[in-house]
Amino acid sequence: MSPIFYNKFAKIIYMMIRRILWKMSRLLYVYVAKPLLFQVSPDKVHRGTIRLTAALGSLSAFRGFTRYVFTRPRDARLVQKYHGVEFETPVGLAAGFDKNGEIIPLVTALGFGFGTVGSVTASQCRGNSRPWFYRLPKTQSLVVNAGLANDGSRIVIERLRHYHPQAIGRFSITLSVAKTNSRQVVDIEAGIADYVTTVRRANKEPRIQMIELNISCPNTYGGEPFTTPDRLERLLSAVDSVRAKQPIYIKMPSNLPWNAFKKLLEVIVTHHVVGVTISNLAKDRSILDLKDPLPDAIAGNLSGKPTVISSNKLIRQTYLTYGDRLTIIGVGGIFSADDAYTKIRLGASLVELITGMIFCGPQLIAEINDGLVRLLERDGYADIGQAVGVDADTCR
Ligand SMILES: Cc1cc2nc3c(=O)[nH]c(=O)nc-3n(C[C@H](O)[C@H](O)[C@H](O)COP(=O)(O)O)c2cc1C
Repeated sequence: MSPIFYNKFAKIIYMMIRRILWKMSRLLYVYVAKPLLFQVSPDKVHRGTIRLTAALGSLSAFRGFTRYVFTRPRDARLVQKYHGVEFETPVGLAAGFDKNGEIIPLVTALGFGFGTVGSVTASQCRGNSRPWFYRLPKTQSLVVNAGLANDGSRIVIERLRHYHPQAIGRFSITLSVAKTNSRQVVDIEAGIADYVTTVRRANKEPRIQMIELNISCPNTYGGEPFTTPDRLERLLSAVDSVRAKQPIYIKMPSNLPWNAFKKLLEVIVTHHVVGVTISNLAKDRSILDLKDPLPDAIAGNLSGKPTVISSNKLIRQTYLTYGDRLTIIGVGGIFSADDAYTKIRLGASLVELITGMIFCGPQLIAEINDGLVRLLERDGYADIGQAVGVDADTCR
């Protein structure tokens, strides 16, 4: 047997074994783990998952096994570089799942190309009173009302710094930055100072490769003060003055009509901001197609499937208007490779998710990476960059 033939054969066998393991992992998760986990309150499950994932992630043998099963060997078709940061795959973990940077070592092994930690704030914050989460199983959504609970940016950044280099490798970490959710930080100047404090801290930490300013967290004291053009201008001018080394993205709200959204983009493009993450949780329940009862007493905003339509629309409009100036990270309701590819074809260079992983299992990221390669082959693209925005100007 020639070595080339042998190599090809070994590769096929390796991929087959991995696909069987993913399939088993999906079946186990969907038919065994999820029904059991969904009997327990989502707050308890989230806390337990973070503890277990942090513990398992500290074991190098477990990380190695997870990496072997879930991380695709480097595939040039999925690799991209934006603003000096390289992404092994376009699929990242969105802000909010790992609020305190506790599980990054295992996240690196699941096949993600990058991961977001936070949102963190200048001071430690206990968040809103519990419960923070409420499940809508048929709608495939979570109602989120955590209120920016986090250990504070100093502690979280220190935690990231202390991970062993082998546990992180060259994985790209984004720090999501918000303002402390407290009565003392409702004032606009205090809010700006809060963001700037964390950006300064992040600027000193080489492990943080990107910064995302979250201006769209609704369930906090003072609401979303930086979603008006004049206040956003003041915030971004202050952040500019830090001259952060890392590229800066803005996490955008999902509920603004295009005109108002565009006004924010007009401000953003005049500052040291390289891109936008589109978008945050859905807020207006009255316009959402909910398949579960949602009592008014349950506070919070929705993730998952209900975010898809507005996120995709805003990605497309942003790409058409500022595609040459802003890198778009698409987020909201990604449950499959097709969902991720739709966002990419509408203009997102990178994508992120949380809720899909909660509903489908941790193998979802490997499935999406694999599926993206097959979709690229189907459409005759040499790499993922060629697919970005190809559907943006088709009539919708
Ligand atoms: C449990 C949970 C916590 C979240 N917390 C944050 C957060 O702290 N900061 C932020 O910018 N977005 C937060 N989000 C919003 C997500 O980053 C994302 O924009 C939204 O959930 C849509 O993506 P998905 O449908 O893949 O979950 C959170 C979402 C979830 C589900």
